[in-house]
Amino acid sequence: MRRRQLGQSDLEVPVVTFGAWAIGGWGWGGTDDARDAAAVDAMKRAIDAGMDAIDTAPVYGFGHSERLVAEAIRGRRDKVTVMTKAGLRWDDERGEVAFEGEDDRGEPRKIYFNSRPDSVRHEVEQSLARLGVDAIDLLQIHWPDPTTPIADTMGALVDLCREGKVRAIGVSNYSSEQLEEARVALGDVPLASDQPRYNLIRRDAEEVLSYTREHGIGIVAYTPLEQGLLTGKVPADRDFPENDGRAQRPSFRREIRAKVNATLDDVVAPIAAAHGATLAQVCLAWVIDQPGVTSAIAGARTPEQVDENAGAGALELTAAELTAVRDAFTALDLDLSA
Ligand SMILES: NC(=O)c1ccc[n+]([C@@H]2O[C@H](COP(=O)([O-])OP(=O)(O)OC[C@H]3O[C@@H](n4cnc5c(N)ncnc54)[C@H](OP(=O)(O)O)[C@@H]3O)[C@@H](O)[C@H]2O)c1
Repeated sequence: MRRRQLGQSDLEVPVVTFGAWAIGGWGWGGTDDARDAAAVDAMKRAIDAGMDAIDTAPVYGFGHSERLVAEAIRGRRDKVTVMTKAGLRWDDERGEVAFEGEDDRGEPRKIYFNSRPDSVRHEVEQSLARLGVDAIDLLQIHWPDPTTPIADTMGALVDLCREGKVRAIGVSNYSSEQLEEARVALGDVPLASDQPRYNLIRRDAEEVLSYTREHGIGIVAYTPLEQGLLTGKVPADRDFPENDGRAQRPSFRREIRAKVNATLDDVVAPIAAAHGATLAQVCLAWVIDQPGVTSAIAGARTPEQVDENAGAGALELTAAELTAVRDAFTALDLDLSA
C-alpha cells in the first residue's frame, strides 16, 4: 500500500482509505447483526492490508458507524488514522435543514447544517466517546454551514487541537472560496485536507483540486467507485430497495448503468487485464493518481470488497492508460442531473 502525507499535517495516510458510511446502514438499505459483524471484519481486514485510515461521521447511522469503528480498532488504535466529521446534526434543530427523509425504521428524520462552535465541540465529545479514543486524528467539517461564519468554526477547531482532542483539521464539500476563508482563518495551523466527491464520471472537484494543489492541502476523495457502479458489478437490472439511496441516484438509472458498464468492458477491462487487476482497482487507481489527490475513500461492507479495494493501493497505471480511461468516460457525456 502506497502512503502519502496528508497536506501539511503530521498524518501519513494510505492511498486507499476505508469509508464507513455504508456500514452505518442509513441510506444503504439498513443493517442487522450479520451485516455489522461483516463490517467489523471488513475494517479489521482493511487495517491488516495497510488500508489503516478509516473515514466515518456521526451522522452515518446516527452514531452506529462510529460505534462499529470503535469495535474494529479496539486493541490497536495506534495503528489506525481515525477520520471523522462534525457539522450535520439530527439532534439539534438550529440552522438550515440539509436533508429530510426517513431512517431505516421509517421514522422521519431532519438533518441540519450546524458548524456553530458550541455544536462542533459537543459533537467532538460525542465522537470521542463513541469511538473510544482520546483524540480524533482528522476532524472534518462535513458540509459548509450557510448560517455560521467559517472563521467561527475554524476558531473552535483550533481550540480543540490545542486541547489535544483533535490532531488535524479538514473540511468536506467546500468550494475553493470557502477553502480560502478556512485557510486564512486558521493562520499558522494547517488546513490538512478537503474531502470532495471525485470519480471517473463525477469530475466537478477538479476546480477545487487546482486550489488545494497550489496551497498544499490534501485531498481525500469520496465515492471513488460511484457507490459500486465503477466496479462493473452493478448490472443494469439490479434492483435497490427504496431505503438504499442508489434507488434514486441519477448515475444508477438503467440507461446510464448500461453505458458505464459497456465502457468498463471495452476500455477498462483490457487495461485491468494487462495489470492482472480488476475493474474496480483500475477505477480506484485512476482517482489516486490524479494530481493533488492524497487518498481515495472506498466504502465497503465485506472483507472481500476490502481485499479488492486495498489491491488498488499497489497498482500504478501509465500516463497513457490514465488518459485513455479519462477520455473514454468523458466521451460518454452522461446526463447526471437529478
Ligand atoms: N463527505 C461527504 O459528504 C461524503 C459523502 C459520501 C461518502 N463519503 C465517504 O466516502 C466513502 C465512500 O463513498 P461511498 O460509500 O459513497 O461510495 P463508494 O466507495 O464509491 O462505494 C461503496 C459501495 O460500493 C460497493 N463496493 C465497494 N467496493 C466494492 C467492490 N470491490 N466490489 C463490489 N462492490 C463494491 C459496496 O456496495 P454494495 O456492496 O452494496 O453494492 C460499497 O458499499 C463513504 O463511506 C464515506 O466515508 C463522504
